[in-house]
Amino acid sequence: MPATAIKTTALCKWFGDGEARTYAVREVAFEAYFGEMLYIVGPSGSGKTTLLSLISGILRPNQGKVEIEGVDIWDLPNDALAEFRLKRIGFVFQDFHLFPRLTTVENVAIPLILRKCNWDESIAEAMKYLEIVGLKERAHLPPVKLSGGEQQRVAIARAIVSSPDILIMDEPTASLDGDTGKNILSFVQKNILNDKRCIVIVTHDARISEFANRILRMEDGKLKRIDSNGDSHEK
Ligand SMILES: Nc1ncnc2c1ncn2[C@@H]1O[C@H](COP(=O)(O)OP(=O)(O)O)[C@@H](O)[C@H]1O
Ligand SMILES: [Mg+2]
Repeated sequence: MPATAIKTTALCKWFGDGEARTYAVREVAFEAYFGEMLYIVGPSGSGKTTLLSLISGILRPNQGKVEIEGVDIWDLPNDALAEFRLKRIGFVFQDFHLFPRLTTVENVAIPLILRKCNWDESIAEAMKYLEIVGLKERAHLPPVKLSGGEQQRVAIARAIVSSPDILIMDEPTASLDGDTGKNILSFVQKNILNDKRCIVIVTHDARISEFANRILRMEDGKLKRIDSNGDSHEK
């Protein structure tokens, strides 16, 4: 049995109050394991981004629990949660969120600099990760000079530069053409996934489903499992 990386219990997030209350995430319970690439699919507005924000310590749930390797993350004081996120969780945002005025290597070094590592050492470490994603020779260019696929690889390098064991990616191929998207996911599967890392990917791009170890489906804030014939059921 693989070790549990993420476990949620009765997780709820709603927006608005009283009559205007709308649920983005309803009673979600799931586990993600080390060594797997877990996909969460579902239509736009079904709560996927909200769920990722809850499990990565960005957005506080209204109810329920998120445990990462047994640590109840929303029970941590703010400082400890910020520290936990920096060390343990890498997040790749849908539209990359690269800083245009920094060079590519500086973008990758940001998490290390935030952890108060020495500047030169942070840049040297960031360079190693740019090499892993095949962009060492682009290090000193601003991100705007890179293609969409290259910018996505920079965002991945930045998410893993502090060696987090949880990597979360929100629609990683949304701004990429089909072949580039497949190449990125194939790259992540070969080079980033290992038995000490858990990768959770939200997507509605069917072209990349071949890289999933397991797929869950989100509908109207609820998470469902999918049978091998493609039907979804209450979990
Ligand atoms: N900050 C917010 N304030 C109010 N409603 C929100 C907010 N964030 C998300 N929602 C609502 O929650 C639902 C789920 O959104 P989201 O998690 O972004 O879905 P997805 O990523 O699957 O497209 C949507 O109805 C959305 O309008
Ligand atoms: Mg979304």
